[in-house]
Amino acid sequence: MAQLTLPKNSVVQKKGKSFGAPAGAEKTVTFKVYRYDPSGGENPRLDTYEIDAAGVSMVLDGLIKIKNEVDPTLSFRRSCREGVCGSCAMNIDGANTLACTKGMDECAGGEVVVYPLPAQPVIRDLITDLSNFYRQQAFIEPYLQADATHTPKEFIQSPEDRQKLDGLYECILCACCSTSCPSYWWNGNKNGEEEYLGPAALLQSYRWLSDSRDEKSNERLDMLEDEFKLYRCHTIGNCTQVCPKGLNPAKAIAEIKKLMVNRPAKATAKG
Ligand code: SF4
Ligand code: SF4
Ligand code: FES
Repeated sequence: MAQLTLPKNSVVQKKGKSFGAPAGAEKTVTFKVYRYDPSGGENPRLDTYEIDAAGVSMVLDGLIKIKNEVDPTLSFRRSCREGVCGSCAMNIDGANTLACTKGMDECAGGEVVVYPLPAQPVIRDLITDLSNFYRQQAFIEPYLQADATHTPKEFIQSPEDRQKLDGLYECILCACCSTSCPSYWWNGNKNGEEEYLGPAALLQSYRWLSDSRDEKSNERLDMLEDEFKLYRCHTIGNCTQVCPKGLNPAKAIAEIKKLMVNRPAKATAKG
């Protein structure tokens, strides 16, 4: 997998602390973990922890072991431990992924190097502020919308049309894709002005554009039609490479561009 360039707030300028392996450790694994408290006035640092990894296989389990047994000040998000909630997304061994599904033995050189998701403001250690990411999810209106004239009791969908949502609905909003996208680093945080929405929001947008029950396709395309929101994707492909659910945001973006070209006429106003 391609290694990603780390962002400015991941540049470590201070020598970190080191914690040695416990006496009698059966299987020593070294973690190097980004530490930063923006309120503390000190530069970020990389702390080194040698842990006894006997019986521990996933990176998240290693981080929990560090927090429980070595350094309770280490901060990170986690919830499901099953690759479902998306909260443990971080940059491990140079690529964004979920800590709970990444094996320690998959990391190069026998070391587990952990940084926060790139190019997002760091709240503390491995916890980033994803408010901008969620604002962009809200912007694409991720819910079924009917035409104002449509008053059905239910929206019928054929099995064939339902299948068109496969590969789209499974997104867990972990932000691994958007925060690995160089175009998103440069254009993704402009508070709505001349802003690239990024692969996660655009994959969600395509999920609703693909839904046979949704009747606002033209309006959804109108919302994306400027120089930035959609067209700042340059098909670099980092997004698809890192998605821990095996989804293909780059393809979804290409499909939206095709819809944009092929639609009959631009809608005038959102109904
Ligand atoms: S394909 Fe588009 S969205 Fe994906 S990483 Fe490249 S520029 Fe970003
Ligand atoms: S498309 Fe994949 S990487 Fe992007 S937010 Fe969804 S699950 Fe995460
Ligand atoms: S803890 Fe939920 S995806 Fe990792």
